Amino acid sequence: MKILVTGGAGFIGSAVVRLAVRRGHEVVNLDAMTYAANAGNVASVSNSPLYAFEQADLRDRAALDRVLADHQPDAIMHLAAESHVDRSIDGPGDFIETNITGTYNLLEAARAYWVGQGRPEGFRFHHISTDEVFGSLGETGQFTEDTPYDPRSPYSASKAASDHLVRAWHETYGLPVVLTNCSNNYGPFHFPEKLVPVVILNALHGRPIPVYGDGGNVRDWLYVEDHADALLLVLEKGDLGRSYNIGGENEAKNIDLVRTICAHMDRLRPEHAPHERLITFVTDRPGHDRRYAIDPTRIRTELGWQPSVTVEEGLARTVEWYLQNEDWWRPLLSRQGVGERLGKA
Ligand SMILES: NC(=O)c1ccc[n+]([C@@H]2O[C@H](COP(=O)([O-])OP(=O)(O)OC[C@H]3O[C@@H](n4cnc5c(N)ncnc54)[C@H](O)[C@@H]3O)[C@@H](O)[C@H]2O)c1
Repeated sequence: MKILVTGGAGFIGSAVVRLAVRRGHEVVNLDAMTYAANAGNVASVSNSPLYAFEQADLRDRAALDRVLADHQPDAIMHLAAESHVDRSIDGPGDFIETNITGTYNLLEAARAYWVGQGRPEGFRFHHISTDEVFGSLGETGQFTEDTPYDPRSPYSASKAASDHLVRAWHETYGLPVVLTNCSNNYGPFHFPEKLVPVVILNALHGRPIPVYGDGGNVRDWLYVEDHADALLLVLEKGDLGRSYNIGGENEAKNIDLVRTICAHMDRLRPEHAPHERLITFVTDRPGHDRRYAIDPTRIRTELGWQPSVTVEEGLARTVEWYLQNEDWWRPLLSRQGVGERLGKA
């Protein structure tokens, strides 16, 4: 297949690009190269004859039309988005423009292209979304594909809106879409403003490790390469118009995840142990969702997917990767907002 991946220079998009090229697909990576992007994320495939890059912005409809006309993909995997909840609290405008208007532009460009091609049956528009659209759970229960949407941050509201647009383009115009909603990812190439890399790098530098609120917020963690594998499976085998929840069934309280990373740092950098002494509780994020948990029954039973890595193994690999890849993360620490407390409203 020739796949147009949007956001392929970001964290998850680059995992999709690397895996798709490894599997022999042709990939066109469309990315605006915002603060969250990094060319190094796709360095391992950028010389492949299967790989092409287009710097283009979802807000520029004409650019999207041109890229589709030039490359004529068989499928689109749409991952480009503004993705950091704290930044969405400080500046929701970019989230509305990229995640909602940008998705609208891409849907319209895809529809025009698909119609122009004679509505090929095999064409797919795969929209990649988050479990955050479902809101916050209490102590029990899991999100299924039928859980009503209840987004509570500007980020999750913008992603929810984009999901609705994608479903509407399927129902109204017959665009062949599939959707996925995934839980929190972690792994290599994760931008150093997100929890897991912040903990690793602050521990490494002997700096306070900030934990929001009481640390009791629960997330369902999935290794990024397992997510990429699930996404390619849904693209190839998912039923049209349906959505699939993706999660590793690895629920952990933030504080426990942080302690596990500290234990890995104690093992790998024993001279600074115990790293737990750096944990510092800070003012909570406004509207901080308490618990997310994914019921992945549909993708497991209907498509036969399962994650390959336990959270213990995935976290160990991730910590080791950051310790071995300073050249990757060091330049990112000077990007705007990195290392600052954002999203206090
Ligand atoms: N990170 C997670 O845990 C998680 C979980 C579930 C779903 N998701 C979803 O997966 C997708 C990818 O997330 P991520 O963590 O890799 O994000 P990321 O922030 O690491 O990467 C986003 C990429 O999109 C690009 N981009 C942003 N605005 C753009 C625009 N206007 N035009 C073109 N490109 C633009 C950026 O340059 C960047 O390369 C997002 O849609 C996100 O909502 C993320």
